[in-house]
Amino acid sequence: MSTPENKPSVYERIGGEAAIRALVHRFYELMDTLPEAYGIRKLHPDDLSGSEQKLFMYLSGYLGGPNLYIEQFGHPRLRARHMPFPIDGDARDQWLMCFNLAMAEVVQDEPLRKAIMKPITDLADFMRNQAEPSSPGELPILGNDPHQGH
Ligand code: HEM
Repeated sequence: MSTPENKPSVYERIGGEAAIRALVHRFYELMDTLPEAYGIRKLHPDDLSGSEQKLFMYLSGYLGGPNLYIEQFGHPRLRARHMPFPIDGDARDQWLMCFNLAMAEVVQDEPLRKAIMKPITDLADFMRNQAEPSSPGELPILGNDPHQGH
């Protein structure tokens, strides 16, 4: 699938179906084996093959190839579909760690990798649905506000 100007799509540049299948396979393999990813691994079903197939279908369309996910499941409504799972900043970071590692192994073209990681990182951040604990010192301490008295 090329754009009207006949520039190859991201889907083509990454290597089409075979590359996306390799990417999602490695992604879930990493999630399944890295102790640092256990927090999100346990949110997923024991058998990851369904998750792998859905992420493959989603990314196929997301990257400019066949809209496999939408054809089968309709509008992705990704944030709503993730609501049953508690996703905080740690979960987002674990997900992105696995995705980044899989991308680094499967996609050799660095500019392409970065071009994909940017919106995926934003998307993963958008998936958060848990309030983060506020850090100490976030609220100005009365009488000690650095913005006062200047
Ligand atoms: C931010 C951290 C994320 C966590 C912790 C997370 C976790 C999960 C979990 C637990 C499921 C349900 C398991 C399943 O249906 O197999 C799921 C489904 C899914 N996730 Fe994520 N996810 C995250 C981010 C993302 C992102 C960024 C994308 C897209 C690039 C994505 C795409 C999907 C898709 C397509 C499904 C299947 C939805 C369905 O049809 O039910 N997820 N995710």
